[in-house]
Amino acid sequence: MALPAPSAPLPKAELHLHIEGTLEPELAFSLAARNGVPLPYADTGELRRAYDFADLQSFLDLYYDLMAVLRTAEDFTDLAEAYLERAARQGVRHAEIFFDPQAHTARGVPFGAVVEGLGRALDRAEERHGISTRLIMCFLRDLPAESALATLEEAKPHLDRITGIGLDSAEVGHPPAKFAEVYAAAAELGLRRVAHAGEEGPPEYVREALDVLGVERIDHGLRALEDPELVERLVRERVPLTLCPLSNVRLRTVGTLADHPLRRMMDAGLLVTVNSDDPAYFGGYVGDNYHAVAGALGLDAGQLRELARNSFLAAFLDHDEERRARYLAEVDAHPDPAA
Ligand code: ADE
Ligand code: ZN
Repeated sequence: MALPAPSAPLPKAELHLHIEGTLEPELAFSLAARNGVPLPYADTGELRRAYDFADLQSFLDLYYDLMAVLRTAEDFTDLAEAYLERAARQGVRHAEIFFDPQAHTARGVPFGAVVEGLGRALDRAEERHGISTRLIMCFLRDLPAESALATLEEAKPHLDRITGIGLDSAEVGHPPAKFAEVYAAAAELGLRRVAHAGEEGPPEYVREALDVLGVERIDHGLRALEDPELVERLVRERVPLTLCPLSNVRLRTVGTLADHPLRRMMDAGLLVTVNSDDPAYFGGYVGDNYHAVAGALGLDAGQLRELARNSFLAAFLDHDEERRARYLAEVDAHPDPAA
């Protein structure tokens, strides 16, 4: 008797994904060879063994170092293409992709090479992989605000490819208000706004990101749970939180997946989504994150469907509501959300 065909994975949007965090060791070594960049690791196994992080900063140190292999537009195309292929296999239908321009321009890689390179892969993502895409440029919050302003200037000739801005890198000691001016300027340009807040930083950073930067989504936001009034506000205003469960465990912001507050957050009425953050470093892509939390937290089919629905509800699809409706209908029609 023939086995039944395995059902397709649950359709989902990925809203918190750093493209540089999809650099798998194998691709890092092949780009290093192509570009003649020496790597301080004997092989992919040794590199993978270095992925034992104590906190956000210890991850960021390696993450920025390994970016040395990304030099040309073609490298960025290959990086994005590899991500899209994996994402499609895990049910991703829409991806809003972060990139860190300052981490590249600081090394002499032109802004245009990064955006054009990524753009080449994104332009054909729908046709090749059935994935609609957006690009979100993140500012590194541990660099001066002036550098973020200069980066926004550099972005201006490329705004047809860029949907929004974000804020990432080392959080503690770099409150959102530091970037008030660049967020106001980006809003004037019609760019959408998100920011990492409450990953390692305090709940005040979440409030500041909303009040001072005017963000529409909070990336992570875990530490908002320490402030019940803030939680009430996030529920009331339906502010989406882009959670990254495997990242939180690997960066030790939560002890184990079983301790992850995702389920409590859903029960509290928060609009949470599941995402992969830096999947090459944290042990899984977005579908792996869904499977991991489903197992560790005992999520049922209805809850998995709710997470997938939330991902499309929180996506920057305002100019394409028909598409959003189509994706939501795909979630509702999916026979087996555990897949
Ligand atoms: N850059 C890449 N991943 C990040 C994370 N999890 N937090 C802050 N900055 C990042
Ligand atoms: Zn992130």
